[in-house]
Amino acid sequence: MEHAKEGIIELRDVTLNYGGDDVVKNVDLDIFSGETKVILGPSGVGKSTILKAVLGLIRPVSGTLRIHGEDISKLSERDLVRIRVRMAMVFQQGALFDSMTVGENVSFRLRELGLMDHEKIDERVNETLSFVGLHGAKKLKPAQLSGGMKKRVAIARALAPNPEIFLFDEPTVGLDPVNLFNIEQLILKLKQTKKATMLIVTHDVESAMFLADSIVMLHEGKFIFEGSPEALKNSKDKRIQTFLDPGKVELI
Ligand SMILES: Nc1ncnc2c1ncn2[C@@H]1O[C@H](COP(=O)(O)OP(=O)(O)O)[C@@H](O)[C@H]1O
Ligand SMILES: [Mg+2]
Repeated sequence: MEHAKEGIIELRDVTLNYGGDDVVKNVDLDIFSGETKVILGPSGVGKSTILKAVLGLIRPVSGTLRIHGEDISKLSERDLVRIRVRMAMVFQQGALFDSMTVGENVSFRLRELGLMDHEKIDERVNETLSFVGLHGAKKLKPAQLSGGMKKRVAIARALAPNPEIFLFDEPTVGLDPVNLFNIEQLILKLKQTKKATMLIVTHDVESAMFLADSIVMLHEGKFIFEGSPEALKNSKDKRIQTFLDPGKVELI
């Protein structure tokens, strides 16, 4: 795929761990402006760990991790805040504040940033809730929402500050087929209308195929594939075939 575009996220020879064994080993990864990259792999291989590193929540033990050309592995907490403002993370569990209304959840970052007055914030909340199809839900509390609605609020909260980079951790996990469809459509709409750069991690093969411009497959802390969804499907690598279709390989 041609991308004469700016590299937005760049990992070079990055190793990550939590003080014990290496979880992610010497990986390289490039995500370009406007691209949707999916990191695919089974549970426990280090997908969420990579997202945490991109957010600067954990630091690489070696290698460089650049966001917009700046190596964040050496930045202070204060400088990391400046970088994080341009990113939005949608956590696996939604991570909504239960005591706040939907509107307050969506406006949380905006209030924290302090760049807009009350009226502008309210306008932005309405706009964002409409975008995710929840304009009527502003006054509700998370406890009154279905799983799919919570997910959409989490997306609205991420979208509200108009970030350049979206990070999604398992956006489709645990959703019923209708909500799964709706959330995938919503991510597609984000991709098409906001021209955002997206890094999605998932173990859901179908979602990865549907959403990705480019897929990387993580296996035992290393990337063993990078390419289009089509190329992944046609891969002759046994490890990939087993992951994509466990039953089929079993029979051979
Ligand atoms: N906070 C942590 N402290 C120590 N080990 C962790 C922590 N978070 C994750 N791990 C370990 O790192 C490995 C990768 O985890 P994770 O990145 O969450 O995998 P994935 O998102 O692919 O399921 C697992 O072995 C997990 O137990
Ligand atoms: Mg995870």
